Amino acid sequence: MRRVYMDANATTPLLPEVMEAMRPYWMEHFGNASSIHQHGQKARTAVDRARETMAQFFNCHDAEVVFNSGGTEGDNTAIFGLLHPGDHCITTSIEHSAVLQAAGRVARYGIETTFVAPQPSGLIDPTDILRAIRPETRLISVMLANNETGVIQPVEEIGRIAADTGVFFHIDAVQGAGKVEIDVRRIGCHLLSISAHKMHGPKGIGAMFVRRGTPIEPLLVGGSHERRQRAGTENVAGIVGIAKAAELAMHSLDDGTIYRLAQIRDRLEAGILQLPGTGVNGVVAPGAPGPSHLGTGERPPRAANTTNIWFDSLEGEALVIALDLKGVSVSGGSACHSGATEPSHVLMAMGLDKNRARASLRFSLLKTVTDADIDHVLQVVPAAVEHLRALSPVAAGTLG
Ligand SMILES: Cc1ncc(COP(=O)(O)O)c(C=O)c1O
Repeated sequence: MRRVYMDANATTPLLPEVMEAMRPYWMEHFGNASSIHQHGQKARTAVDRARETMAQFFNCHDAEVVFNSGGTEGDNTAIFGLLHPGDHCITTSIEHSAVLQAAGRVARYGIETTFVAPQPSGLIDPTDILRAIRPETRLISVMLANNETGVIQPVEEIGRIAADTGVFFHIDAVQGAGKVEIDVRRIGCHLLSISAHKMHGPKGIGAMFVRRGTPIEPLLVGGSHERRQRAGTENVAGIVGIAKAAELAMHSLDDGTIYRLAQIRDRLEAGILQLPGTGVNGVVAPGAPGPSHLGTGERPPRAANTTNIWFDSLEGEALVIALDLKGVSVSGGSACHSGATEPSHVLMAMGLDKNRARASLRFSLLKTVTDADIDHVLQVVPAAVEHLRALSPVAAGTLG
């Protein structure tokens, strides 16, 4: 059976070039980058080169790149490393749990957090961030692209607010990296976190931009690695892998791959929307609650690979399973919370009711997706939806 993977926001496979770049660093070039002999030097050179590539990726200085274990560590580092008792933090209610739970933990130490809600479109209004600032606000943490809806947040405007008010600014760019260009100088952030496995690199490796002079307390101590900002023997193969993935991601942004990806995603979306009782989460609905930047029917900017669609009168979980049986891998809500039966906190924050949030699916495409993949999915989805609706107690009106 043909299998189509449409869960790229959960993780992505290594590209062959990434695998090839990493391979020697597990075997012949296995040295510890801190050793002074030839074996060590070989590893050190690879780490230095990778750091140069990441500096290009972020548009920062080499010394501002810190390698770590991924997005969770980057998000935790921003919150645990910068905030002290009595400080105030601003984030949003649609962040990944690596930010939300870190903010929850520091509350125990007298650090209060304001969680700014999104507009019904999924966009954060920068003026809501501005309004939340207090004299004791030390950190603003906002994501670049949302993992569930793909909505791209106005980080440049938020960066200007942070600069004007003298507040540190962290961006969780885990889902934005490779899909939109990242320029930390233009954005004006102090910290930015990415993860390799969301952009065709290996799992368990990430990188963080830390603007020079940002007073971050390291999460891990025990060595002078990464300019004393992150102790632990360097994961040399992983570091080589994230740099190769970043290099390929920069090419994809330049050579039209990401533009083509958006067109393919739009074709998928338009095809699914032919079904009655469906819609995209993140479009401003008539009579949507609260003010919005956008007019009725307008869509905010989104990551090129993502669409989040509601299907009336069925259970999202059931549709995920039905599609899996037909060879299509998608996710309901965020894959990082798979197993949880609670409706997505992101969709709920956007104002969806529980049933509609539960009946929503995320299609997140790999940049290697083909038209034939879309054809397959457009064949399978209508049949699965019709079948489930015919069986569904939701459709029969027996669920509240
Ligand atoms: C927006 C966002 N931030 C952080 C993370 C965590 O990244 P990692 O899996 O590298 O720990 C994820 C993972 O899904 C994510 O989507």
